[in-house]
Amino acid sequence: MSPPRLGPGTLLAVLWTLRRGFGGVLPVLERIRREAGDVLVLPLPRRPAVLVADPATIQHVLEEHPDAFAWRLPQDPVTQLFRRGVLVTDGAEHARLRGVLEPSNRPSHFLPRCEELWRDCDRILDGWRPGRPHRILPEMRRMALLAFERVYFSRDLWPELPGLEAALQDALRYLGPGWWLLRGHASPPPRSVCVLDRRFLALARGRRAAAAPPDDLLTHLVSAFPDDDLVRDQLFTMWIAGHDTSTSLLTWSLHLLATHPRVQDQVRTEIRDVLGSRPPTPEVVVRLAQLDRVVREALRLYPPIHTGNRLTVRPVRLGPLWVPPGSRVLLSYFLAHRHPRHWPEPNRFEPARWAARPRQPGLAYFPFGAGPRRCLGASFAQLEVRLLLTRVLQRFSFRPWGPTPKPFMGAALEPDPGVWLVPEPAP
Ligand code: HEM
Repeated sequence: MSPPRLGPGTLLAVLWTLRRGFGGVLPVLERIRREAGDVLVLPLPRRPAVLVADPATIQHVLEEHPDAFAWRLPQDPVTQLFRRGVLVTDGAEHARLRGVLEPSNRPSHFLPRCEELWRDCDRILDGWRPGRPHRILPEMRRMALLAFERVYFSRDLWPELPGLEAALQDALRYLGPGWWLLRGHASPPPRSVCVLDRRFLALARGRRAAAAPPDDLLTHLVSAFPDDDLVRDQLFTMWIAGHDTSTSLLTWSLHLLATHPRVQDQVRTEIRDVLGSRPPTPEVVVRLAQLDRVVREALRLYPPIHTGNRLTVRPVRLGPLWVPPGSRVLLSYFLAHRHPRHWPEPNRFEPARWAARPRQPGLAYFPFGAGPRRCLGASFAQLEVRLLLTRVLQRFSFRPWGPTPKPFMGAALEPDPGVWLVPEPAP
């Protein structure tokens, strides 16, 4: 069977959208699916890639035959940046690293560490000026970073935040899809990210020397591995994977709430009824049904991981195609989550659709991935965003400001040109 291919106009649009996209990434991706179907070949010059938007085929890759796929090529930016990090290793080494990282990602371990996360949230919110437009993504990034370091490193990152910002931005820009896909290899990571490398190495060495180390991820890693470089790679990986995604989800959730004032009111009323003015706790926020539906729907419409990457290690059948070893496979979370065959009115923000707990065949909804590489931080992330959103909504209401943001494929799915909101004290 001849592979479904794109017309030259669509291919050009795809390449352009890797950086910015005209009209955003959504129209381009949807045009691809309409033109060439749910499993198609992207004729990239160095190495063909197969783009998959069909839930059954995605399940085939992630859950049914994960052994037919390796993670990434050594020349991809993510591999160059994270080196031996769990996200980019395969086989027995991957299983060994997950084994060490899993205990600190169990709810029984992190729940008590989340009791006071609202205090860090308040430190950011205390700086907000009612009535003035605020660019929300950088604020959510700071919140997510503070929360991550509290829970996994037992640290207060606040004083260090400004000094890390430039290096972090460079690292994220480096990680996103870009022209390297056409060249077939990325340039080495920017020199500025050495700041982060040095910091994670210093954290590992400091913790190794600590007299009474806390029981957290950092301690688990230094206890398991005598090699500081290997520890640094895990810290770097977890730090980026553990905050950039939550940043994206928090930002898109607030955008959706601001642009749907009725839903925003419903969620705030629920929070007020359950909590009054008491700060949010883990036990309470997981029971907030309206908030839960908003978070699920935000993850459906704006999955922070927009594209999954794999590399075939043997010939595999994907939908109508036989794919040779050494091919890139790109799994589109974005298209599967908006597939018109599986979602009524797929592009509409409709939290109520989650009231009935819809069940689709295959992986039509998999914001945290699936199979042996499913997100390690999924449980923490789900609690964290509920805690932080609850606190933000207790203190502020929002209206949108500026142009409507479009999804942009950065390292995570980002709003372009950003989410700007005007906060007012919550009624
Ligand atoms: C809303 C937040 C998050 C989303 C949507 C998300 C999504 C994902 C997805 C889709 C994958 C699978 C990637 C693949 O199969 O290629 C993944 C993997 C991963 N995530 Fe998350 N994630 C989130 C938060 C977190 C947090 C908070 C942490 C750490 C504390 C984390 C750490 C990881 C790691 C280490 C992996 C790699 C697992 C492996 O390869 O075995 N993530 N995440």
